[in-house]
Formats: sequence, C-alpha cells, structure tokens
Amino acid sequence: MRRGPAPPDAPPEVDGVLFGRETIHERVAELGAEITADYAGREIVLVTVLRGGLFFLADLCRSIAGPVRLDFMAITSYGADVHPAGVRITKDLDENIEGAHVLVVEDVIDTGLTLNYLLGVLRARGPASLEVVVLLDRDQRRIVDMPIAYRGFHMPDAFCVGYGLDLAGRYRNLRYIGTLRDEVLERMGVV
Ligand code: PRP
Repeated sequence: MRRGPAPPDAPPEVDGVLFGRETIHERVAELGAEITADYAGREIVLVTVLRGGLFFLADLCRSIAGPVRLDFMAITSYGADVHPAGVRITKDLDENIEGAHVLVVEDVIDTGLTLNYLLGVLRARGPASLEVVVLLDRDQRRIVDMPIAYRGFHMPDAFCVGYGLDLAGRYRNLRYIGTLRDEVLERMGVV
C-alpha cells in the first residue's frame, strides 16, 4: 500500500500517512449512507468499544441520517502484551438492547478475539439484529473469523496511529492514520 508524506504539522515521530484526512472522511460518509439505506425506518443502537473507536463513531454517527442512540463498553484483556486471549468487561452498556438493532462500531479488527467475545455477550441479550462496522480490517492477523457487514478499509500489517489508534495512549487525535519512524517503534518495544 502506498504511503503519503507526513503533513507539515505532524509530530516528528510520524513518517508517513496511510489513510489521509480526506480519504477517511469520504469513506466514512459512504459507510454512513450505506447504513442509512440499510436501516431505513429502524433506530440503530451504535455500540462502541472504548477508547479507540470514539473518533470513528463521532464521524460515522453524523453521516447516518436516521435515528441513532449511542452506548459504550470498555473491556480489558488478560495478560499485558498478548492480544486478548481472554477479555473482561470493565464498563458495560447503560441501556438494555433487547429487541434493538445493534451495530457495533470498531476502529480496528486484528485477531478478531475482542469482537468475537463482544458479539457473544451482546447476542445473548436478545437484540433484534446485531452487525459490525469496522473502519480498518487488518485481516492478516485474524484468528477468529466473523461476518463484517461494513468495512472501511483493508489495512496492511503495519503499526499505525491516529484517528483513534494509539501508541501507549498517544496520537489518537491525529486526523489521519499514519506510521511512526522505526526508531520510535523500536524504542517503544513495538518491533
Ligand atoms: C483495539 C480495537 C479493538 C481491538 C481489536 O483496541 O479497538 O477493540 O484492539 O483487536 P483484536 O481483533 O486483536 O481483538 P485496543 O486494545 O487497542 O484498545 P483501545 O481501543 O483503547 O486503543
């Protein structure tokens, strides 16, 4: 996948852009239009997993023309650096989703373990429908496969930050999805 240059105001650690601001904006608008058409006449409960998904959610929900409600979950995985072999809910939904049309909003899917766990939990609560919208599908790392109704982009197996994606909690607020210099990744123990 071709990388663009880092914008002039980028932090010095950022060395390129995979998905620029406009590209993301256009794709999110397309997803919103698709979702609006598919759910015509039905209210959607958008369920987002904190924290990375917030940025995608904020733009996506404003691209959906029909009625939506928002609810949030937070989860943690057992084991610090192994990606979730087991997952635990640290903040549950505030609303009852029985009979609701639930659309889970995720920024990125890697192994699929988080989403697989989450979908199991939500399905058990009896929603009228349960679907997934993901901005970035990094499917090279997939362990558990599941149907994804709406997908923004396929993503290469590269460490990225911005538009919700972080390194040690930082860079989430970048308006684009970019890559970090190798020395930063080495220093932070990512590679
Ligand atoms: C990301 C993303 C998913 C999960 C996907 O969250 O938002 O919840 O990883 O990974 P998986 O498919 O391998 O399970 P992260 O753990 O980075 O937390 P954050 O949203 O707070 O950044």
